Amino acid sequence: MQQMIFATKNKGKIKEIKAILSDLPLEVLSMEEAGITIDVVEDGATFEENALKKAVEIAKISGKLTMADDSGLEIDFLDGKPGVYSARYLGENTPYTEKNAHILSLLKEVPQQKRGARFVSVIAAAFPDGKTLTTEGVIEGRIGYEIKGENGFGYDPIFFVPEKGKTTAQLSPEEKNAISHRARALQKMKVLLQKEWEGQM
Ligand code: IMP
Repeated sequence: MQQMIFATKNKGKIKEIKAILSDLPLEVLSMEEAGITIDVVEDGATFEENALKKAVEIAKISGKLTMADDSGLEIDFLDGKPGVYSARYLGENTPYTEKNAHILSLLKEVPQQKRGARFVSVIAAAFPDGKTLTTEGVIEGRIGYEIKGENGFGYDPIFFVPEKGKTTAQLSPEEKNAISHRARALQKMKVLLQKEWEGQM
């Protein structure tokens, strides 16, 4: 089976991504599994710039189809922050228990209708010949009032999804994969890839 690399070192993400892409005729490798150890600096101003930069650099090194995502949490009350800086917010190595507690404290007195937030994911695919594709997925929700749930990672325990009545950390992996920003962007990417492959036949 043809191999593809998904350029992330985040173990939470790679698990979600492998599950979502499991029906593609491709073996999905993490960077670790592909033996690639370089760090691509995410210095772009947008999710798209960062995702493209990672995918293109790793495709060049590996000679394999490479996908990368850049994602983050946009909070309306904080003018869209942490946004593209979500991973680095309050320091890359600061535990999410602290980051989440800090956000809850900033929004302490904020009423429900002003707690709007969304997770955004941009997926980039880079082919070894230099061709690239990008897709975006979004899930709308709001910042909860307390930390809830043990699944997922990152900001999941404070991201409340009204239709589910739960945070994304309270959803099972299957439930999260059915509605997440990353799943939505990946589903769109699967359609683009299939068109690309059909065009080559
Ligand atoms: P990236 O690895 O540069 O894309 O950083 C994305 C950051 O956004 C992660 O480290 C998390 O802080 C946050 N994030 C993105 N997607 C999710 C999610 O599904 N749940 C919780 N946090 C997320």
